[in-house]
Amino acid sequence: MAFGPANPPIRDWHARKVWVVGASTGIGAALAQALLARGARVVLSARNAARLEEVAGGHARATVRALDATDAAAWQEIAAHIHTDADPVDLLVYCAADYQPERVWNVHAADVDATIAVNLNGAYYGLEAVLPRMVALGRGGVALVASVAGYVGLPGAAVYGPTKAALINLAELAYCEVARRGVGMYLINPGFVATRLTAKNRFYMPALRTPDQAAEAIVRGLERGRFEIHFPRRFTLALKLLRILPQRLRLFLLSRLAQP
Ligand SMILES: NC(=O)c1ccc[n+]([C@@H]2O[C@H](COP(=O)([O-])OP(=O)(O)OC[C@H]3O[C@@H](n4cnc5c(N)ncnc54)[C@H](OP(=O)(O)O)[C@@H]3O)[C@@H](O)[C@H]2O)c1
Repeated sequence: MAFGPANPPIRDWHARKVWVVGASTGIGAALAQALLARGARVVLSARNAARLEEVAGGHARATVRALDATDAAAWQEIAAHIHTDADPVDLLVYCAADYQPERVWNVHAADVDATIAVNLNGAYYGLEAVLPRMVALGRGGVALVASVAGYVGLPGAAVYGPTKAALINLAELAYCEVARRGVGMYLINPGFVATRLTAKNRFYMPALRTPDQAAEAIVRGLERGRFEIHFPRRFTLALKLLRILPQRLRLFLLSRLAQP
């Protein structure tokens, strides 16, 4: 087996149709705009249709389709219109997520259900909506936006962190299943990016990036056919190192983050 790019590099954006779910704000909005600027056709989805229209900015190659990602039937309904044999989606980017900073002794069932519903269940519904046709056609790809919070048990992300760890696991197994069928599978693990989501954090966020910087890093990774697109690397590599430390040392270091 030859080791080259994990996925087919995507360079001819003008010939691609990309479905960005979670495109109304933050990283997804910046990514949708970066792809439109490169000539891609972009379908923008999230719950807030007015925000999606603002992000699309009347661009001729943008289509707005409001979607609650926790609604499996709604995924199927939109996919039936935008993901057809004649004109399939080339890339689904699943960017939608919910995050509540919370200690493990403070979690509430309603928040647990809501966060898992969008962060994890929504990703499965997205796969269900696009993958069967992609596999049948032997083309296309899916990018799951997880997080470095999925690398290790980061204190303060009691529900969010485990959902992101699950997405990392899901992307890996999905890659192993679909890559040989001509379908790309991308895992996107951002470090800290200044968005509505991280505005909830009350701690110092090292190596903080803007949504536009995140979008550029994602596009570059897709163009190189990377499996895992992680940034900024100085920060993400440090966390990867933490992951391979002996467990007792890792727990000692992570526990210090949980203070006070
Ligand atoms: N910011 C960071 O530092 C950071 C770091 C690592 C990973 N990430 C990941 O990057 C992705 C984007 O995060 P972000 O920071 O850009 O967050 P954000 O600004 O809060 O954007 C989240 C997006 O998800 C959409 N969304 C939330 N619930 C939804 C639902 N039920 N159905 C459809 N869309 C929904 C939101 O739109 P509506 O409210 O209009 O539905 C919004 O467009 C997430 O997966 C996040 O976990 C972010």
